[in-house]
Amino acid sequence: MTRPLPDDLLQVPHRRDVAFARLTTLGVGGLCRWLFEPTTELEAQAFVRACTREGLPWRVLGGGSNLVVLGDVATPVLRLALPRDLQRAGNHLTAAASHGHIALAEAAAGMGLSGLEFASGIPGSLGGAIRMNAGAYGREWVDVLTRYRFLTPEGEIIEKAPEPGEFRYRWSFITGGRVILSATAQLTEGDPATIRAQVAEYRGKRGTSQPLSKRNAGCIFKNPPGQSAGRLIDQAGLKGLRIGDAEVSPEHANFLINHGQATASEFAELMACVQDRVREHSGVELEAEVEIWRE
Ligand code: EPU
Repeated sequence: MTRPLPDDLLQVPHRRDVAFARLTTLGVGGLCRWLFEPTTELEAQAFVRACTREGLPWRVLGGGSNLVVLGDVATPVLRLALPRDLQRAGNHLTAAASHGHIALAEAAAGMGLSGLEFASGIPGSLGGAIRMNAGAYGREWVDVLTRYRFLTPEGEIIEKAPEPGEFRYRWSFITGGRVILSATAQLTEGDPATIRAQVAEYRGKRGTSQPLSKRNAGCIFKNPPGQSAGRLIDQAGLKGLRIGDAEVSPEHANFLINHGQATASEFAELMACVQDRVREHSGVELEAEVEIWRE
């Protein structure tokens, strides 16, 4: 970016040239040239207002667990660093969007609150989970969400209850310049031992079928309607296909893993290779499920 950033934007806490390897679970990518990390909602608001006023494009980063970055990124990146404390009012639990998603599910379980067990194996931030209405085992965020706060593209803070049409399967309207700030879940009091047992069962299921001990970005490709991307990649014989330190996981074929030193270009090449070979083998066009930043 050649244009200097305005003074009010530069007053928001930020860091320069942070490696995406440190900001994503996959651990590849170039440098994040401008990483803005507001510690209050007002700082986040100042970021959005300044960017909007200047006509500056910007991106939002959550826990970086569903993201593959393929180069340096010069557009300002917003990563909330809001206070971690949880607010409990009766059976309602409120957390900031930057709260760790698994940590939130664990905290709820620790309080004897049931309803977030489904979330206990889904990495990333609460904000990322709300943005995509994350779910597992037949439950999703919209089932428990009672209120949420977000910034509009103009930098206005709105708090409201979810309404029909705002959250669908793995989609929410928190896109296009909106930034989720916090969310409140309505939970129910339960037996702590039963809740912990459910959490352990869900964790165990993932642990046996997914390569969770290696750096990864979760499932790379969407399941095509009525099919499984993992099965299609497996049937094309691609488990263990390796380019440099990037490999199609031998445990679950829809996971690409980083053995440590993988580069962005190795990942780009491996993803394209998987798409080509699956197209040749079964005629199916695999579409990325992860977010990809190519800039
Ligand atoms: N399969 C294979 N070979 C493989 C992997 C899977 O044959 O290498 C077969 C399995 O045997 C099974 C079918 O494919 O019959 C589906 O596999 P799995 O049960 O692992 O579920 P999935 O559809 O691959 C989805 C989500 C995961 C989520 C799991 C469990 C998508 C793209 N994936 O995986 O989400 O963890 O269900 O809830 O929707 C993610 O979003 O990043 C993610 C990992």
